[in-house]
Amino acid sequence: EYKQQQQIEESLRIVNEFAAKYFEDILHNDEEGQLIGGAYFQERGFRNNIIEQFRLGYCLDKWDAFITEALAKGHTQELLEKAGLIKVRDGRAYDNYKGRVIFPIFSNTGRILGFGARILKKSEHAPKYVNSPENELYVKNKVLYGLYQSRQSIGKLDECYLVEGYTDVISLHQGGVTNVVSSSGTSLTEGQLKLISNLTKNLTILYDGDAAGIKAAMRGLDMALSESFNVKLVLLPDGEDPDSFVQKKGADAFNKFIEENKQDVIRFRLGLGLKEIGNDPVKKSHLVNEIAETISKINKTEDFSIQADYIKESARQLDIDESGLINLVNKFIR
Ligand code: UTP
Ligand code: MN
Ligand code: MN
Ligand code: MN
Ligand code: MN
Repeated sequence: EYKQQQQIEESLRIVNEFAAKYFEDILHNDEEGQLIGGAYFQERGFRNNIIEQFRLGYCLDKWDAFITEALAKGHTQELLEKAGLIKVRDGRAYDNYKGRVIFPIFSNTGRILGFGARILKKSEHAPKYVNSPENELYVKNKVLYGLYQSRQSIGKLDECYLVEGYTDVISLHQGGVTNVVSSSGTSLTEGQLKLISNLTKNLTILYDGDAAGIKAAMRGLDMALSESFNVKLVLLPDGEDPDSFVQKKGADAFNKFIEENKQDVIRFRLGLGLKEIGNDPVKKSHLVNEIAETISKINKTEDFSIQADYIKESARQLDIDESGLINLVNKFIR
């Protein structure tokens, strides 16, 4: 049983490596690959060395170009399907990443676990990204995009930036900001936090400045606090993500923005919440409860003075009694 699992994992690694090489080769050496995929990356400002470091690729806009090559090289249809490289419908197999640019997802040792594949032109009928399905090798809640390329730097700087997307990681690396991983659009899981906590306890969340980004940031928060991370948040300007920001304004402006806009969790929540509630007393009591719950999570960390400071600041900003807030916080601890 165990041995069989190992064998499936290794076959998946092998077929993924074959596919990654194939997609890279198409991007760099095929005419369509250069004209369509290469031009796309160039337009986005991705230079060659970063394309090579992250092993980006392109899948031809044909139904079966990849599958034909893979079968000819002896890979089985069953394995290709399990890896998510092809799809089978009504008995016919076709390339799953047809006409998309390819982002391989690496393990800690640089083996390829799966892929993200981005459509080139906006479409109402197709998703922006198609990602590998979960299988014996690719277990999403244990993977962070960019960790392989960033882990050394995260340890050295003792801080990890968490962003939403593949392209955020890549553009930041290109700009020299190399302590960054992506949750790939989903909210952070406990398994992913464990991966980071092996390297640092300082987590800075840089999510997109849109409503979805804010929501996603909130969800990861309480969990990170419970795992005694020191969490900071930065909300990017509306409509920007780290990729667009650093490509437009450069790495120096990006770093400056982060330093000037880093907020701790409580001040972040207070700022957002106070804007939302207006004069509504029901909403206000709801916010007070939320803030109290968040402060209670910080209790697990060693530093009680931080908690006391948060209580004082929150009571002041919410215009409520400090001892009342302390009671409420204690209710959540019990
Ligand atoms: P975004 O919509 O912010 O995309 O989703 P992005 O990363 O900025 O990509 P570009 O710059 O438009 O190319 C953030 C992340 O959510 C996941 C991907 O991992 C993406 O990088 N996502 C998004 C999906 O898995 N599927 C989707 O259809 C969209
Ligand atoms: Mn977004
Ligand atoms: Mn998003
Ligand atoms: Mn984005
Ligand atoms: Mn983007």
